[in-house]
Amino acid sequence: MSPFSGNQELLARRRKVLGPAYSHFYRDPVQLVRGEGVWMWDAEGRRYLDCYNNVASVGHCHPEVVDALHRQAQRLNTHTRYLHDSIVEYAEMLAEVLPGDISVSNFVCTGSEANDYACQIARRVTGNKGFIVLRGTYHGATTLVRDLSPAIRPDPCPDYICEIDAPDTYRGVPSDDPDRFAAHHAAQIDSAIETLQQRGHGVAAVIVDSIYDGSGIFAPLPVYQQQIFSRVRAAGGLVIADEVQSGLCRLGDHYWGVMDSGVVPDIVTMGKPMGDGHPLAITATTPDIMQAYVDRGGEYFNTFAGNPVSAEVGKAVLRIVERDNLLGHVKDTSDDLFARLRALADKHPVIGDVRGKGLFIAAEFVADRATRAADAATCMSCVEWMKDHGVLVSRMGAHGNIMKIRPPLVFGKEETDLLLETLDAALARH
Ligand SMILES: Cc1ncc(COP(=O)(O)O)c(C=O)c1O
Repeated sequence: MSPFSGNQELLARRRKVLGPAYSHFYRDPVQLVRGEGVWMWDAEGRRYLDCYNNVASVGHCHPEVVDALHRQAQRLNTHTRYLHDSIVEYAEMLAEVLPGDISVSNFVCTGSEANDYACQIARRVTGNKGFIVLRGTYHGATTLVRDLSPAIRPDPCPDYICEIDAPDTYRGVPSDDPDRFAAHHAAQIDSAIETLQQRGHGVAAVIVDSIYDGSGIFAPLPVYQQQIFSRVRAAGGLVIADEVQSGLCRLGDHYWGVMDSGVVPDIVTMGKPMGDGHPLAITATTPDIMQAYVDRGGEYFNTFAGNPVSAEVGKAVLRIVERDNLLGHVKDTSDDLFARLRALADKHPVIGDVRGKGLFIAAEFVADRATRAADAATCMSCVEWMKDHGVLVSRMGAHGNIMKIRPPLVFGKEETDLLLETLDAALARH
């Protein structure tokens, strides 16, 4: 007799007590009950290859992470009002791997809080109120960052926010004419700055991603970030790099994706992968910015964040990333995966574009490569069929026609084989 409820019964009960604001993946949702490395098992004991979850960065239920959590949870769990070695050690480890002068960590529990706090710091330090964000992006669920998330904001854009185009090189300005690309995006940022100044808000900050997920998974050309950084700073604003998704080696060249563009932001926000599933997020900045925040009346406390259990988890994750050279591993896996996915796209014209970086990959489905008309139906059918055959990927984008592949960082060659064989078989049915 299974200890788990049947899926349909569980779904009905869940609808009643979790309410309709929650959604789920797949037409027939999966009930996952166990995880190990890149694998997960459902309530009936069926095994799935996880090609989607970036939170389980060093693998589901990594024994060293679970052990670190268990050991500290048995001893003590308090907060930052007391001294504790673990919290300081974790912040020291972060300072070692963060770019430039970014060495002061503020602990929070979610990516949303990390971005919200970053915005509060930017406002207080600059004295300005306005923000620039990119179309299609998501930065979180608090009142402030929901407004700063065009991907989900249900209401009109408030007047203290200006949106600019993400570097969509497939349906927007292509990158094969770098001058035109740079000029288009420079004009957008200039116009946003001018608008915020005319409205009397000025620029507190721009929030940049290192891979534009909600906009369709685009890794920006360095010039894109570089001109945003220089123009916003010249206008008196700060640059917040949202590394909640792209951080911790996911893009394969640096610990933090923003470093791919050769720029150092003023604030870095981190979340999802940092605790391998444990709620651990960070707003990190420079000593000067933090001092300016406090000098202008800022302070911070968070009951649950910065506790020693989370710190031990975070330390274990960073230790594993470093010891197992996951940056190099991501690079190797990614080079192989991209080459073979592109070969698959040559065989199946419905894949109109393969893009992304590291282990953050998009395969865009089109009905016609010339017109780039979206083919959401085939994408959805492949995603569902792959799930039924033990491989978990997802579907996204404004047209719902982009297959998103974003596995744990420990995904390797054998897993790539299975992913691509299953995708090939799914495509062959169409
Ligand atoms: C880029 C980015 N920033 C911030 C967030 C918010 O993180 P959280 O869900 O932990 O609040 C997300 C979540 O999907 C995200 O993708």
